[in-house]
Order: sequence, then C-alpha cells, then structure tokens
Amino acid sequence: MNYTSIKDIDSLSKWVKSAIKIKKNPLKNKKLGKNKTLGMLFFNPSLRTRLSTQKAALNLGMNVMVMNFTNEGWTLEFEDGAIMNSGASEHIKEAAEVISQYCDIIAVRAFAGLVDKEKDNAEIVMSGFLKYATVPIVNMEGATGHPLQALADAITMEEYKTTHRPKIVLSWAPHPKALPQAVVNSFIEMMQLQDAEFIITHPEGYELNPLITKDSKIEYNQDKAFENADFIYAKNWSNYNDYGKITNSDPNWTVTADKMKLTNNAKFMHCLPVRRNVIVSDEVLDSENSIVIEQANNRTYAAQLVLQKILKNGQ
Ligand code: CP
Repeated sequence: MNYTSIKDIDSLSKWVKSAIKIKKNPLKNKKLGKNKTLGMLFFNPSLRTRLSTQKAALNLGMNVMVMNFTNEGWTLEFEDGAIMNSGASEHIKEAAEVISQYCDIIAVRAFAGLVDKEKDNAEIVMSGFLKYATVPIVNMEGATGHPLQALADAITMEEYKTTHRPKIVLSWAPHPKALPQAVVNSFIEMMQLQDAEFIITHPEGYELNPLITKDSKIEYNQDKAFENADFIYAKNWSNYNDYGKITNSDPNWTVTADKMKLTNNAKFMHCLPVRRNVIVSDEVLDSENSIVIEQANNRTYAAQLVLQKILKNGQ
C-alpha cells in the first residue's frame, strides 16, 4: 500500500473517524512499528510535515531516519537511459533500491519546479520512487498533491463543523513568491469526496488544472463566495495556465476581518506557513475563529493513520 494521492483513500469518512480515534489515544499502537524504520527524504524545506510525520512514526514505535537531499544527498538523475555526464551523480534506480534496504516505508517531499508543467505533472521524483523502491511510499508533498495535508484538513473540518453540510470556501490570496498548486489540488480532490457546499474563489486567469477541479463550483467574486460560509480555507497558488508565474498580486484578495464578516462566523484555515497581512490579516489569524494551529496538530494523526494502515497492511 502506498499513500501518494487522495485517490488512495477508500473511504474518507472512515479514515477521518479512525484518525479522530487515534488522536484520543495516540500511543495505543506503540508496538505496531517496533523494529520498523521510516525513511523521510526531503528535496525541499518543511516544518510541519517533517515533525508531525516523525512524531506519528514515534507514536507507533518506529525508528526514523531523515535525509535532506538539498544539501546532504547526491544529486539524483530521474530519466531512464540518461547519459549522466553532467550534474547528477546517482540514478534514482540505485538510490531507491538502496534506501529500500534500510527502510520499511519511504516518505518523500519533492515540490514542483514550476518551470515545466509537463515535468511537474509527471511527478518525476515521486514516480521514480514508486517505480524503483521496493517498500511503500508516502507523499509528504509532491509536485501536484499534498494528501497528508488534505487528510488533516478533513479531520479538522469534521471536528469544527456545526452543520451536517457546511459551506466551505477555498480562496486564493496573494503571495510574493510563486507557489505550487499541490496543497489546493489535494484539498479540492478531498472536498469532492465530502458532503458539503464547496466553492473555489480566485481571480480570473487563476484556474487550476481542470482534471482536478472537474465540476467544482468556481466564483470569481470573493465577497460573494464568502457569503454565509462556515469555513474559509485561504491559500495562494501560482498561475497554472501561465505556468508558475505570478500574474496577480491584488491585496484586495487578502482575507481580512471585514471579509470574514460576510461569512456565517466561519472558521479560518490555512496549511501554514502563512504570510501575515499578505494572505490573511493579523486580526483574522489571531482571532478565535482561526483554527490553523489545531489544523497543524492534526497533521500528526493524519500521518499516524497512514503509517498505521501501511504497517498493518504489511503484517
Ligand atoms: N503545511 C505544510 O506542509 O507545512 P510544512 O511545509 O512546514 O511541512
């Protein structure tokens, strides 16, 4: 069993219930991971994913090895048949097989480069590990998806929802750096499995991959989208059509207290890290409606559920 996409979830409601159960007694399965090793490979920086996934593994009694490929590992080649006479020192073929001998589960973080859309959509790093590793793979944010984050988001919304069918708004917000679409892609895929009124709001031109958004409702007027919302999930993404570019930095899209007044006393969510007073005002982020800290806390239980399922699957 791998966990590289929201598509790997067979029943979101069952997974969310199980994660909430784990949260109540996180050390219950402390023996499950005894003598098993999680290898965490980072091709990009992290705070939450690194610590929450490590914490989840420790709660299950696993050993954890972390390797940062940005400054520790050899530069890897991912193309089959490549003539390796330039930058890369090692092919994914050997690297993945070797790491598989040391680890029972491999977790990988490898962001989109945001230069070559086709290459990013091919998920060359994640696909390379899926192809050549001989142990299960967990996606800690790839080029096109962040399924551990989306699972934590689903847990958080289940905990905080006050109606059976809440209105959930995913809102684009400005950002000074070009960011990938991975978080919102997985959030949208997860929302498509939920019984909720779901609306995506973003400036015209910021449409995401239609293979992901499918028939999800898009509203270009942010104020209109916010009306009576129960949850506001803010996130920036760079332009998908003019790939990887920032073509809008309109501060009117920042989530402010005035905008939150349009909602049904909505909870505010963001995956973090968040740029204060760019994505969201201090007033909103510091308000009691902000649930970003608990959202980050749930990263541990999302990861623990995934690791637990993989460990049990291998028994
Ligand atoms: N939300 C998230 O993935 O945080 P990190 O980038 O800090 O891991």
